[in-house]
Amino acid sequence: MKLILPLISACTLVLSLSIPTSPYYLAQQKALTIPQWVGKFWNSVFLSEASNEAIMRADFGSWLDQQRNISFQGILNNIGGVSSLLDPKEVYDGVVIASPSKYMPNYFYQWTRDAALTIKSLIDYLDDTRVSSDVAEVQKTVEDYISNNYILQRLDNPSGTFGDDDKSGLGEPKFHPNNTAFEENWGRPQRDGPGLRVTTICAYLELIDKYQVPFIHLKSGKDVYTEIVKPDLVYIIKNWNRNGFDLWEEINAQHFFTSLTQLRALIDGSKLAKKYEPQDSGFIEELKNTFNDVRKYVEWEGGFIKSNVPYVIETPSLLSLGKRSGLNIASLLASLHTHDLASKDYDNIPYDVDHNLVLSTLRLLITDMKFRYPINRKHIGVNNVGVALGRYPEDIYDGYGTSEGNPWFISTATASELILRLIYKLETGRMNIVIDELNSDFFKQFVDYLEAGQTIVYGSLDYLELIDQLIKYSDSFLQIVKDHVDNEGHISEQFNRYHGFMQGATDLTWSYSAVWNALRWREKVFRLLNPSKL
Ligand code: NOJ
Ligand code: NOJ
Repeated sequence: MKLILPLISACTLVLSLSIPTSPYYLAQQKALTIPQWVGKFWNSVFLSEASNEAIMRADFGSWLDQQRNISFQGILNNIGGVSSLLDPKEVYDGVVIASPSKYMPNYFYQWTRDAALTIKSLIDYLDDTRVSSDVAEVQKTVEDYISNNYILQRLDNPSGTFGDDDKSGLGEPKFHPNNTAFEENWGRPQRDGPGLRVTTICAYLELIDKYQVPFIHLKSGKDVYTEIVKPDLVYIIKNWNRNGFDLWEEINAQHFFTSLTQLRALIDGSKLAKKYEPQDSGFIEELKNTFNDVRKYVEWEGGFIKSNVPYVIETPSLLSLGKRSGLNIASLLASLHTHDLASKDYDNIPYDVDHNLVLSTLRLLITDMKFRYPINRKHIGVNNVGVALGRYPEDIYDGYGTSEGNPWFISTATASELILRLIYKLETGRMNIVIDELNSDFFKQFVDYLEAGQTIVYGSLDYLELIDQLIKYSDSFLQIVKDHVDNEGHISEQFNRYHGFMQGATDLTWSYSAVWNALRWREKVFRLLNPSKL
């Protein structure tokens, strides 16, 4: 990977030098602090022994650059074939392990979801670098992932088989990294995997078309579509309305994240079906009908949206039973992973980042977790500063077993990315912002005299003020990430709600991907707002 890193560094360096200026505010470089005693301990243990490899935590701009490179490398380190840290006999080419941790907890598996989401970051990277020959190793890694999934799809496993009518085996959530089935008890099936895989593979096939570059070793797009994508689409058509376990692997029910990501996959699948098998009009029609059904389900029938509940409900059945509120970062992950600001193809998917319910979900998660996690309490009474976010209020998984839930890097980075994408959407669409009952609490923290019913006109002084504030706000979540990663930029799954130290699976691939995605969007926003500076 040596070829790649200088390339990213050069590009991020230019950016960090040229970031901010009028009329937009440059994020204040003031670090949010962890509790004082932890800070002291941290300084004495790490900073005094700082080696050459230590990250520059003191300077936000340098940290951003370094953490971006480290995070990208962190993803590659966990993929068989490209990683120099993994044993090829243990982790086969293209296999994405969730984390190298083999005990306490054992995450040395390939989860279909984690793999699809993190490979998508590699594809975004390829897009940013226009699939240049310098990044052939990354391109090959994506193709290895695709080839490997052909094998995994066909393994008999405890969720079922590939051969049956419902394609039940495709709902299996995780596999051993040597491509064998995981036979122990687990929360299965998980029905988000096939759809996420469709979306990731579709993104890669579109990239190949966009830049007119050859495959490294895949046979053809048509082959990938018929052999790998199509079976996943059949799985969604047959199973979308059945219960399954949620992305957090705990609850057997219907879930917003699963349904919305299936909706996206149905659009991606239709595009590929029309391209590669236009003669199969029956299947294209089935995809369209299923899309309409799932869309109706997401918006009306599934219970995710209720007129008296001011947020998207991730798992409605638990709310009905009085067991959980339904507030969940999963709803926001769903929003991010189903929309693409560069394409009109997904306009028919509801709940993009500017949706009032999405913004109120974020706002309510923050309000809850500000009080729930002691490390956030210093922000009580302060409105427009980010806080450490976890998965959902009632969480009790501590990364090893169950006790109390903690903030997660994925969740905290997701808040930052969501706000950055909101800014990007508002700016590129030159959009006015209509304040209503649902989003007013979110926007009021930045411009306090706003009331429901008002419109903030694109380009107005209020609008400019708001954008400045939103940039600061998104940075404040990244500051939190910065304060809790370790001194070499390693990122685990969680950080403790009392003292802030990392815990749970070490070097979690998905954490690296979520942080990398947020940092990538930060760059996109700054490029958009300061084009002349680049
Ligand atoms: C492990 C799962 O991966 C995690 O998401 C879940 O919260 C715990 N098991 C529950 O025990
Ligand atoms: C637990 C998380 O809840 C789940 O979403 C994830 O797939 C696994 N850990 C592996 O990272």
